[in-house]
Parts: sequence; structure tokens; C-alpha cells
Amino acid sequence: MPKHVLLCPPAYFDVVDQKNPYMAGKLPVDRQKAQRQWEALRSALEQAGCEVETITPVAGLEDMVFAANQVFVGFHDNIGKFIVPSRMVHDSRQREVPFYVDWYRQRGYKIIEVDLGTGQGNDRLEGHGDLLWQPDWSRIYAGYGFRSTSSGVEKFRDAMSKLGIPVVPLELVDPHCYHLDTCFCPLNNEAVLIYPGAYAPESLVTLRGLWKRIHELTADEAHKFMGNGIVANGRYLTPYVSPRLEAILRQEGLSPVILDTSEFEKSGGSLFCMKAFLP
Ligand code: ARG
Repeated sequence: MPKHVLLCPPAYFDVVDQKNPYMAGKLPVDRQKAQRQWEALRSALEQAGCEVETITPVAGLEDMVFAANQVFVGFHDNIGKFIVPSRMVHDSRQREVPFYVDWYRQRGYKIIEVDLGTGQGNDRLEGHGDLLWQPDWSRIYAGYGFRSTSSGVEKFRDAMSKLGIPVVPLELVDPHCYHLDTCFCPLNNEAVLIYPGAYAPESLVTLRGLWKRIHELTADEAHKFMGNGIVANGRYLTPYVSPRLEAILRQEGLSPVILDTSEFEKSGGSLFCMKAFLP
């Protein structure tokens, strides 16, 4: 069965404000280059045997291209495929959420709403920016601290526990790793790539107890999004490789595919953030 993956074309992609430290550079986005980089991602996914689906981009939603964040996508034997809609920190990003929820609703996904409260001081949850599956779907890792809030993650954990899915909260402490997907990337069911400096000490201890092999990235590698890759059919799609990362991938039986994401990095995102795998 080919893996299905959702992408959003970058038609309106831009950097217009500063939602994370990467966006402080004030570098203009080269739209044509962004389009070419996105096309290259699309064909690399197809070459890796994935079936690519797309959602229609919306004018004025400059970050909508980051298809990982608007909902959490899951599957459970009891209820089938489901989503948990995000409550994004930034208003401009929160406006993306209904478009994605509709996309999933039209395709038969059950919608699990987590009550995060309303208004300014409410809880936040940012989809697969912070919520990542164990590859065998047996548990979910949940980053919090910059975007998703600790109590948002707790409420998500309650909702998942009703389905019998354990959630492991992980506290993030490096502003350049504001989403869990920048410092945590399962390579297979036994091995994970992490950047240890991104975690509070207790969270790091928790993580170390849950994996057979933990491969560590340096700060420099993590901040270049080498831990924000996509694992697909024996390949690791990544914006850069270092000799260390190459050795890790070799050990885990993955071959690197390098894809330039310079334009999206100006917005603080790379390959992992630009897609959502569908069950
Ligand atoms: N500019 C976007 C933001 O700050 C980038 C999101 C990147 N997504 C991710 N999953 N890390 O929200």
C-alpha cells in the first residue's frame, strides 16, 4: 500500500511577520524558487512511492504550505481515521485550521475536538509540529513549551487515553526548536534522531528510556533542520546532510535524498513541516 501524504502548494507562501527565530532575518522569499522547491518535494515523495494529495491554498494564509500543523491525524481500530484540530498560537495560522478540517471531514475523518478553552489565555495545540506518532502507532510524543502548551498537551493526552493511546509529554527549551518536529525524528520503530539540547532534562531522561537507539544531532545540524526530514520507503528526505547524519542513516538502512528548502527555512520550516502523512 503506498503511503498517502497531504501537501499544500506554496501559491501564497511568504514571510510577513516573526513567529519564530528563523523569521527574524527579514530575507525576502523568492516565490518562484519556493514553487520549484515544493515541486521537487512532491516528486521526491512520488519517487519514494507515496501518493500525494493536495489541499487548495488560500490567499492571505502565508503559512498554509506547512501542512503538518493544522490538525493532528490519527488512526485507531475503534474509530478509524480521525483528526484533532489544532489551536494555533498565531491568529493568521489559526485561520488555516478550518480549511484543513473541512478537507479531512470531506474525506470521512472523524473529528475529535479537544476543549482548549477560548480567548487569549487558552491552551494551544499545534498538530504534527508538536505531536508525533511512534512509527507503529503505539504511542504519541507531545512537545510543549513554545507553541503547544503544557495543559493543551494534558488535555490532548486525556482525549487519547480514552482511545487507549499513550501520550508522552516532552518539554522543549530551545527557541530554535520551537516545535518537536525540529528535534525529534523517528527513523524506524527502534531508532530516533534527536537534538538533546532542545529538551528539559527530565524529558530527555524519559526519551532515553523509550528507544533502543538514540542518534544525536548537534545544535548546528538541528538548527539546519537535519532532524526535520521525512522517512519514506528506505529514504530520508533532508535539506542537508553532514558526515555524521550520513553515518547514522547508513546504520539505519536509509539513504539520504537532499532537497533544497532555503525559502521555507526563512519561515522556520523544512520538509517534515510541509506534509502530513495520512493513515
Ligand atoms: N512559519 C511557520 C510557523 O512559525 C513555520 C511552521 C513550521 N512547521 C513545523 N511543523 N515546524 O508557524
